[in-house]
Amino acid sequence: MRMRKRHNLAPRMEKCADLMIPDCTAHRGRWLEGIPGFERLYVELGCGKGRFTADTAAEMPGTLLLAVEKVPDAMIIAMERIRERGLANVRFIDGDAAALPQMLAPGEAARIYINFCDPWPKSRDAKLRLTAPAFLRMYADALPLGGEIHFKNLHKDGAVGVMTDYEAKFYAEGLKINRVVARKTAATLGTAAGAVPRLRNASLNDARGVEESREANKTEENAK
Ligand SMILES: C[S@@+](CC[C@H](N)C(=O)[O-])C[C@H]1O[C@@H](n2cnc3c(N)ncnc32)[C@H](O)[C@@H]1O
Repeated sequence: MRMRKRHNLAPRMEKCADLMIPDCTAHRGRWLEGIPGFERLYVELGCGKGRFTADTAAEMPGTLLLAVEKVPDAMIIAMERIRERGLANVRFIDGDAAALPQMLAPGEAARIYINFCDPWPKSRDAKLRLTAPAFLRMYADALPLGGEIHFKNLHKDGAVGVMTDYEAKFYAEGLKINRVVARKTAATLGTAAGAVPRLRNASLNDARGVEESREANKTEENAK
């Protein structure tokens, strides 16, 4: 979906400069030392306009929340929300989630949130989905044992927890929304190559990725 151009983007970004990390590699391996006062680091990929970012950060003042967003016209709204609410525990990276290994040392993020990621329905774009295997491998590296991916997409049983902007919109339309929590275990580590397709099929089998999961299931079945 194309994001509307924001008026005065540059000066508005400038006003929020203290919330941004201009060099995404700057704190790699020492986020909690570089930005002291927090007990753990959580990361949100594709934060969009930041309703979830702001409400989650407000619920967890002891957690540093790093929000990654590649579209500045969306990120500026998120940053202004954080500024208006006076939240001290959020930082933003204006960049691509594909650079996660440059942002985080292995095991550095205790949790990764991915909400309503862009569907990229054409198969030639499948590698751009934040649920694509290469991304899942990056998440497995960035999490410690017990670390979690929290993934929300289109509520089975009504609204649960903090809503995102997209979720509020879909919920108002009466659409079903699913949430998955995937936890890194010793099995994830031991079978890095094999576990990723299993994680994808079992946990990230969202409405938009069904086709991809079917293909992966077929390939796995054929390989048996
Ligand atoms: C459909 S919107 C959802 C926004 C928000 N999570 C929500 O639920 O309201 C997807 C967001 O992810 C961002 N995004 C998609 N791929 C990304 C990537 N590789 N790196 C960073 N942001 C990404 C898009 O720019 C967009 O703002």
